[in-house]
Amino acid sequence: MAEESETTGRDHDGEIDHPVFAALYDLIPQSLFLRTHREYLARDLSGRVLEIGVGNGAMFPYVVEGASDDLEYHAIEPDPNMRSRANRRARESGLSVDLQDARAESLPYRDDTFDVVLSGMVFCTVQDPDAALAEVARVLKPGGEFRFLEHVGTDGWRRSGQDLLNPVWEQAAGGCQLNRDTVDRFADRDEFAVAEIRRLEFGIFPVTPFVRGTLCRRREPPV
Ligand SMILES: C[S@@+](CC[C@H](N)C(=O)[O-])C[C@H]1O[C@@H](n2cnc3c(N)ncnc32)[C@H](O)[C@@H]1O
Repeated sequence: MAEESETTGRDHDGEIDHPVFAALYDLIPQSLFLRTHREYLARDLSGRVLEIGVGNGAMFPYVVEGASDDLEYHAIEPDPNMRSRANRRARESGLSVDLQDARAESLPYRDDTFDVVLSGMVFCTVQDPDAALAEVARVLKPGGEFRFLEHVGTDGWRRSGQDLLNPVWEQAAGGCQLNRDTVDRFADRDEFAVAEIRRLEFGIFPVTPFVRGTLCRRREPPV
């Protein structure tokens, strides 16, 4: 059996296994402040769609609401505690999901597979965000959309507070980083054109601000 690391909460051989965080995540009354933004992610979904880091399946009811008849929904989640919850939520929501045990940094799909890739508060937690973004670009069809909602690092005294709290926070919140500059990372990729990136002044310190947006997979790299 794998030995657990005291500092990362992960096994030395790399497993992601956070039973307490998964149980607590169920208790957060997210619909109060995330409903509109989850609706943004789930708007007009059709074709082949992938959700990365699906967690407990909180997106599923929103996906069902707006789903077209030809929707084929795929999802990945590396934490078994989250995956079992997501499977249950899929059954309760009546959503047919092909849910795989995988990480965003190494997606088990061919190039140019998906029309849309969704990510809700995942890039704060993935271990290698640049590799994950490259994988999202690889599996998206040219012209496909990457839609995201993420909490990010802020500035000024709040940023200093996030930096200070981060070591404790990542232990308690399944590896989540409070102070990642995710927007810069998203805006800088050659594979994507930015359709929209919007900063949202909501959330409760230290989990604020949020950004949401849509990147479009370019058909050709920029010259
Ligand atoms: C804060 S939760 C968000 C869950 C869900 N997306 C939502 O909208 O509520 C972050 C999720 O990312 C997952 N995760 C952690 N590392 C990951 C990785 N390398 N690739 C994909 N997902 C990962 C965690 O297990 C957790 O379920």
